[in-house]
Formats: sequence, C-alpha cells, structure tokens
Amino acid sequence: MEPAQKVIERCRLIAQCSDEPGFTTRTFLSPATMEVHVLVKGWMEQAGMTVRIDAAGNVRGTRAARDAGARRVILGSHLDTVPHAGAFDGVLGVVMAIALAEQLDSLPFHIEIAAFSEEEGVRFGVPFLGSLTLTGGLDDGLLQRRDSAGTSVAQAIRDFGLDPARLPEARLSDDAVAYFEFHIEQGPVLDRLGIPLAIVEGIAGQSRLMVEFEGQANHAGTTPMNLRRDALAGAAEWILAVEREAGASRGLTATVGQIEVRPGATNVIAGSASASLDLRHAEDAVRREAAARMVACAGQIASRRGLSVNCRERSAQEAVFMNEHLNRMLEDAARDAAFAAHRMFSGAGHDAMILARHVPSTMLFLRSPGGISHHPDETVRAEDVAAALLVGRRFLEILGERGV
Ligand code: HGY
Ligand code: MN
Ligand code: MN
Repeated sequence: MEPAQKVIERCRLIAQCSDEPGFTTRTFLSPATMEVHVLVKGWMEQAGMTVRIDAAGNVRGTRAARDAGARRVILGSHLDTVPHAGAFDGVLGVVMAIALAEQLDSLPFHIEIAAFSEEEGVRFGVPFLGSLTLTGGLDDGLLQRRDSAGTSVAQAIRDFGLDPARLPEARLSDDAVAYFEFHIEQGPVLDRLGIPLAIVEGIAGQSRLMVEFEGQANHAGTTPMNLRRDALAGAAEWILAVEREAGASRGLTATVGQIEVRPGATNVIAGSASASLDLRHAEDAVRREAAARMVACAGQIASRRGLSVNCRERSAQEAVFMNEHLNRMLEDAARDAAFAAHRMFSGAGHDAMILARHVPSTMLFLRSPGGISHHPDETVRAEDVAAALLVGRRFLEILGERGV
C-alpha cells in the first residue's frame, strides 16, 4: 500500500476509537484514548522507536541518532478531538510523523514524535494540556481545573494510571532544537487556491471566556413579558451583538459554541444562561480590545434587562510566529520536491503555538477539501498527503545537511 494511503487508513482506524458510538469524540485521557495509545505505540515501535507514555498521557516515540550527543528534532500533533470530529485534525500529524520515521532511518539527529493527549480543551475548558506538559506549563493551577463531573486534571491523570508527580520528567529535553507539525488547514484557503500545501507563518492568538447571565426563573404562562428577567433572551441578544461586532472587525473571529441554560424546561423562563466565547485574531491587542468590548456589551444588555452577568476568562494564548529560518528550509524542501507551498497565517490553534515559545517551530498545512473541519466530513486528499510526505522527508534531510 502507498504510504499516503496507509496514512489515511490509519487515521480512519484511529477515528473509530471514540467515547461516543457513531461519532468520533475523544477527550483528555478518556477510555478511547487508551485504545489509540495501543495503535500509535505499536506503529512507533514498528518504525524502530522506543516508546513511553509520559505523565500527561502523551505518547513519546524516540529513535536515537548514532551519535549519542546529537540534537533532537520533535515532530508531533494531538490525538484528542472535538465532539463529532473528523478523522484528521491532529491525528494526521502524528500518523504522518510515524510514516516519515518509517522512511528515514539514518538522520544525524534524534527523532522524537510527541502524540499529545489533549489540545482541543474540550474536557477541562483549557486547551494544550498535552504540549504544555513539555514546556512546564501544566502547572498546579491547571492540575486543579475540574471537568463537568468535578474531576480534576490531576485526578484524571491518576485515573488513567499515570502519576502527576512525574510530570517534570515529561519536559522537553535540552537537546531539542526544532519542532515540526503537519496539520490540515481546517479552512477554505488552500482549497480555493487549488494548492495542496502551505507553510504556516504564524498562529492567531485566542481567548476563551465563559459569560454567565443570571435572571429570574419563572412560570412561562403566567409571567407577563414586561415583568421578566429572562437570562436566555439576554444571552441571545448578546450573542447576536458579538456576531455583529466580529463581522465588522477585519480578521477577528468570535464564536459562541456552547450555551448551558438552567433550569432548561420548556415551560420555565431561563434563570441562568452560560455562553462560551472563543475569540481569535492575529494581533493580540485587537483580540484583547474586542474581548473587552464584548464583555462591556454583556454588562449593558444585562443591566437593561435586570440581569446580572459574570464574565470569566478560561484561557488565553498569544499569537505566535513560526521560525523563519525553519520556514525557509521548508520552502526549499517544497521547491526540491517540486511543490508550490503557499504561505499563510493559521486561524486554528495548534500545539506548535505552545512549543514555539521554547524551540524553533514550523508547520506544514495540507489542504482541507471543502474547507471543512471539526466535522465528520473533514478529509484530506491522498495526493496531498503524498506531497506533504515528500516535502517533510526533504525538510528533515535538509535539516540534516545544513544542521539544525
Ligand atoms: O480550536 C482550534 O483552533 C484547534 O482546532 N484546537
Ligand atoms: Mn481542532
Ligand atoms: Mn488540531
């Protein structure tokens, strides 16, 4: 079987490991994660790697160079998914890295593949728990975060059979000199340009907030419209204001993807409504100003409607630029492999935005047909996977030739 086809088959096999029958849903250290570990660990070992599961559940495959004092290049991406995901977000980057390890066995540097346990932030509302482990960012504050069942991150680690006390052993080793991530673009740019690959110049910053409107639950049939303090109606007005604001601000995305209403009965006016807000922009100052405006807007709507509102920032990641020196090597690799590689900015967050603060990083995007992602219809073209493998292989060879 062609390597590209094998990559796609493996991604589709992993997609069947799910916490939700009929869909691909796999959150931090869930039972389905254990099934994926068996597959990924086996493929890494077949590729001649020694494999360990670190204290945050990242699968870490390493193949040492002949020279013990050689430096280390990390390839990776994440194994967790959003609910009802496709088969390629994150997983493709891990499986393609393993495919390169299968093809290349005499590089002058250690190769380490990091298959991160958590990037999406679904279970605990905070993204990048896996890659933050490598950079020391999985601190006590994050370890105490709780999921909807009240389980802390630390307890989730213990429940999975791992030991949070060993997190320091999972840190990036000092010999790491580069991080490289394959990932689907997850948007429409490459598909519209008719180009298979892109070099990522930078990754937009993101803020994740919870905005909780509190009003007065009451009877749906007896409470006159002018005497209501309807939390859901207030949230709805705010959600439309957020959409208008983002639509008028170039390069800003604002998404309310979650809303939780209580008590949540058809014949009861909503006493409370909690809405998530995901804000992204390439410039941090613009993103922060937009967040402040949207929080102020929630306050104005709440006071006009006799509601109270509480806005909590759950996480924030600054925009990050990839390493231009590595980007140029990736560009040379694409040229050597006779592929035109577009350069673009990523609206989606990636583990590379965590690693890039600690080690020079670069990413190669593959076209997302139809521009769809975070959806079961997410897909890739076999010819684009083949192209990306050629470019990725050439990139590692150039790293070896020019020195990292
Ligand atoms: O949400 C994101 O940008 C990514 O898919 N985690
Ligand atoms: Mn994602
Ligand atoms: Mn991803």
